[in-house]
Amino acid sequence: MRKILVTSALPYANGPIHIGHLVEYIQTDIWVRAQRLRGNRCIYICADDTHGTAIMIRANKEGITPEELIANVREQHQASFRGMDIEFDHYGSTNDAESRETCAEIWAALRREGLVHEKKISQLFDTKEGTFLADRFVKGTCPKCGAEDQYGDSCDKCGATYTPADLKNPVSTLSGTTPELRDAEHLMVEIERLRPFLTEWTQNGGHLQEEIANYLANFFLKDELRDWDISRPAPYFGFEIPDSPGNYWYVWFDAPIGYVGSTRVWCAKNGENWEKWWKDPETEIHHFIGKDITYFHTLFWPAMLKVAGFNLPEKIHIHGMLTTNGEKMSKSKGTFIKADTYLRHLDPAYLRYYFASKLTGSVDDVDLNFTDIRDKVNADLVGKLVNLASRTAKFIREQGTSASYPEDGGLFAAGAAQADEIAQAYEECDFAKVTRLVMALGDRANKFVEEHAPWVLRKDPERAQELQDVCSVALNLYRQMVIYLAPILPKLAKQSAELLNENAADWTFESVKTPLAGTKVNEFTHLMTRMDEKAIEAMIEETKIENQPAEGQNAEETGSQWDDSAQPLEDEPLDALCTIDDFCKVDLRVARIIMAEEVPEARKLLHLTLSLGGGVTKNVFAGIKSAYKPEDLLGRLVVCVANLQPRQMKFGLSEAMICAAGPGGKDIFVLSPDSGALPGQRIH
Ligand code: 2FM
Ligand code: ZN
Repeated sequence: MRKILVTSALPYANGPIHIGHLVEYIQTDIWVRAQRLRGNRCIYICADDTHGTAIMIRANKEGITPEELIANVREQHQASFRGMDIEFDHYGSTNDAESRETCAEIWAALRREGLVHEKKISQLFDTKEGTFLADRFVKGTCPKCGAEDQYGDSCDKCGATYTPADLKNPVSTLSGTTPELRDAEHLMVEIERLRPFLTEWTQNGGHLQEEIANYLANFFLKDELRDWDISRPAPYFGFEIPDSPGNYWYVWFDAPIGYVGSTRVWCAKNGENWEKWWKDPETEIHHFIGKDITYFHTLFWPAMLKVAGFNLPEKIHIHGMLTTNGEKMSKSKGTFIKADTYLRHLDPAYLRYYFASKLTGSVDDVDLNFTDIRDKVNADLVGKLVNLASRTAKFIREQGTSASYPEDGGLFAAGAAQADEIAQAYEECDFAKVTRLVMALGDRANKFVEEHAPWVLRKDPERAQELQDVCSVALNLYRQMVIYLAPILPKLAKQSAELLNENAADWTFESVKTPLAGTKVNEFTHLMTRMDEKAIEAMIEETKIENQPAEGQNAEETGSQWDDSAQPLEDEPLDALCTIDDFCKVDLRVARIIMAEEVPEARKLLHLTLSLGGGVTKNVFAGIKSAYKPEDLLGRLVVCVANLQPRQMKFGLSEAMICAAGPGGKDIFVLSPDSGALPGQRIH
């Protein structure tokens, strides 16, 4: 059994999780689950990346402390991940005390090795905001070609690279004022002294994909490595450097150290020794990152680990960036989709499966095409996978699977024989291969079902045994596919295990080798619906609306302010107390609006159809026309009073109510559950 510690890059705490991030977290989560299915011990560690100027400035603007900001964002991030079935063993914060301690330990090692020296650095300073400006907070005219509106580090037009101080007519993007050049002492790490080690580590041992190793050899390791500027002068939101008061570690110093800090928190909670994970070569460390942050993870990070005597990564798995419909994600085209928005409209399984089908373990970019995802999900997951169970399980609900596994022409044995190849494909992050191999099994299984037509057999009582055998084969082949896909589709695996009277947590790659015989089959519950074009459109529309900049607001700004103290509660005093039993008489359910239209004759009403899951729908006339357009509601999850006495209205029967807040008119706010809730779930 291997002992494996896995991380994904730590997302910045200044914005929401979006589908661009999800490529990586889904990839990592699948890999971790596959390791466990192989019987290895594997923990998955992540955290928010909380330090730096951007977070300090945003907190300032919102009138809250950076600590409050990062606490809020952390909650949101975790909810998004949960909704997408991404499960960490621990989700920490780079601002945790354990991170600070680890920073100090690694820092002391760099000092001890004599790798740190001081240097005077001239940097642009925003006098209005009172802060030095990082490259991306300065814009101006390219010193080389004269192109306007270029960032402080490089020019889009001619490709020149420079420092912000070289820009002509520089302007601070924070305040719009002209910054001035100021000197400050910075602490520099002489990474050049580690070049022999880095050359060896990056080029040998298979720690990096070949294209990455070559890129580093050709662009960095050939020449002297430049000193790394590791400190920032106050004001800066971060950890103050213990032996250099007034200076803070640069966010990219403490970000990867957050991997260790977060592990330490997990260890403390679980009675483990963190050094066994980070200083014992028995543990394999695997980092998953995007190619945009290769440089930090393949040069600085191994150098820091080496000097401090920590484990070096066994492997850094680097993936490409996400494009949508072949282009960069775009706010105005509605393709810059937040995880939460996605989850209001679509099942996480769709995206997990689709990304899996595109990920091969290379650094190529991944494209999310909205026609392709629908076709693939409907053909593979619904057509080939779930159909196998839905067409057969109900016929053997009473009798269960056949007492001994029937003759199936070698199908089960052929499926079982693929276990090693599929496990290896997971190991190599070639999830596309996994989906191809499993869907090929699905083709053969479906052919078997069609040839034996259980729906015909069930009409003939004399062929009951044959019916049981055919369905037992189909369900066993289904089970094999589901186990193979369990890392990609954990929720479907759980539901399928329940159907087959098993526990998905007990499954390993060995489980595909022994068929179920003489076992109980439970009630078939709905497993997955087809991916609906309308839901995709509604999600894109919602994304466009979310990204419409409010007056005076920059489209790039995200997040809001959480200050409810100005809102008077006294306007509507609280009601007399009720008992829990009183409350329970009201059956509140999560529901999805699947149809919304105007009632032309009614001034205030919209006509809605709510889906409560399991095929149950309710007709509702809601007095929200003054605040909502029907198209804005389509696909949304709402809170529904499901057991309200139906009421005959002029326009039809109203069978339920949806919950909303606000005084009325334009100020009506329909309630929605957090992402992850599903239609039909009871609200307690
Ligand atoms: O690029 C980013 O989003 C960074 N927040 C990633 C940090 S990864 C690690 F080093 F913490
Ligand atoms: Zn230029």
